[in-house]
Amino acid sequence: MNKKYKIAIAGCGYVGLTTGLGFANNGHQVTCIDINNKIIDKLNHGIIPFYEKGIDDLLLKCHEFIHFATNGTSYYKDSDIIFVAVNTPENMDGSADLQYLYNAVEQIACSIEHECLIVIKSTVPVGTTDKIRKKINMMIEKNLYKSASKNHIEVAFNPEFLSQGSAVHDILYPSRIIIGADTKWAKEILYNIYEPITCEKIIMDVKSAEMTKYAANCCLALKIAYINEIADLCEISGADIRCVKEGISSDPRIGNTYLNAGVGYGGSCFPKDTKALVQYSNENHFELKTIKAAVESNNMQIMSMYNKAVKKFHSLKEMKIAILGLTFKPETDDLKSAPSLKNIEKLLQEGVYLQVYDPIGMNNFKQNYANQFINKENIFYANSIDEALKDTDMCFIFTEWDCIKKFDIQKMHELMKQPVVFDGRNIFDPHRMKVEKIDYYCIGVK
Ligand code: UDX
Repeated sequence: MNKKYKIAIAGCGYVGLTTGLGFANNGHQVTCIDINNKIIDKLNHGIIPFYEKGIDDLLLKCHEFIHFATNGTSYYKDSDIIFVAVNTPENMDGSADLQYLYNAVEQIACSIEHECLIVIKSTVPVGTTDKIRKKINMMIEKNLYKSASKNHIEVAFNPEFLSQGSAVHDILYPSRIIIGADTKWAKEILYNIYEPITCEKIIMDVKSAEMTKYAANCCLALKIAYINEIADLCEISGADIRCVKEGISSDPRIGNTYLNAGVGYGGSCFPKDTKALVQYSNENHFELKTIKAAVESNNMQIMSMYNKAVKKFHSLKEMKIAILGLTFKPETDDLKSAPSLKNIEKLLQEGVYLQVYDPIGMNNFKQNYANQFINKENIFYANSIDEALKDTDMCFIFTEWDCIKKFDIQKMHELMKQPVVFDGRNIFDPHRMKVEKIDYYCIGVK
């Protein structure tokens, strides 16, 4: 039978929590730790602090194997394995801000009292895991942490590939597991813990694993930026991106994922990780031309729908505009770097009135984003798509939520002042829109 470990996880964001639940589901004893009292309080009451499909059920299923705490000291002390899954946000210059990571590591180093494997899960620049290892060893050498000095402590890197909206599925049925470890002992522990999961386990050195994480996200971001540019070129040339996508994705070397043209990528990973890799390259006097271009291209793409509206109407001042979809993708309440945000900011600066609707992201938008906007009093929070569209001069679509996809477009005539739609996710068929006499603008489609 597979060995059961005592596991601590630093960080209760969607990565830390989903990872913890994955291990608890396999019968390991897990404690998830977060410095934020509110998050831990919610979790202790069985409430998940963010929206993620299926995660409530997983918590219910394995609640006996998982605990939550604000102070990790006693849990770190007893753990066989400690995963660090704290966030590594963006600094002003695009580089990764590692302060939360180093704080967590310091607390861990102060607490451990016996043999322990520390595993970094947070996305970190290449070389960070080595720096952490050196820092811990230095602390031990200086005899600051006497209890730890007698014991075996090793640091490894094990990236996550969890997509928001399908994080539970991704943790239970991952496409692959990357084990970045520099010693046989660390490799074996990580291999053992992932044994019950049937997927390819790729073992490599720590630095290669750190690079793999960035390279994976940047490759996907690059693919999206590329298809968006081809879509723009389709518009100029009279080609149709839907046919082009079908044509290229039938080549197995290209594949058919991450080739949906749209209003640009957002989220907590692609925008941050592309910039961090560019910054890392700059620091190492290397110019990462491709990813730099993807970042620039995506920044332009995000405003593509707004630009189309300005081209049509010249001035948008005083117009009433519906915004359908706020989150960076469906099935999440996350708005981090969501294309909707930059568009809303720009539209409000122009002096428009907005009627916004999102089936899940409204509260997050209201509480954490809306206050930053000039003319925020011009935002009306609608309770439905119908209410958002009422008496508007045009509508923007930023997220391909099912309810928006299934919306009865015929109703646009009776609800809107004039049925003009700028669809940033290519949801509707332009021919049908034409038949329905809806003035429809999307991306790269004839
Ligand atoms: C991503 C990675 O997929 C995941 O492996 C990693 O661990 C974290 O980053 P996530 O940010 O949750 O996950 O979302 P993802 O589904 O990859 O989409 C990111 C952005 O790209 C979204 O804004 C989405 O709308 C956009 N996108 C995606 C496109 O514009 N076109 C596509 O074809 C696919």
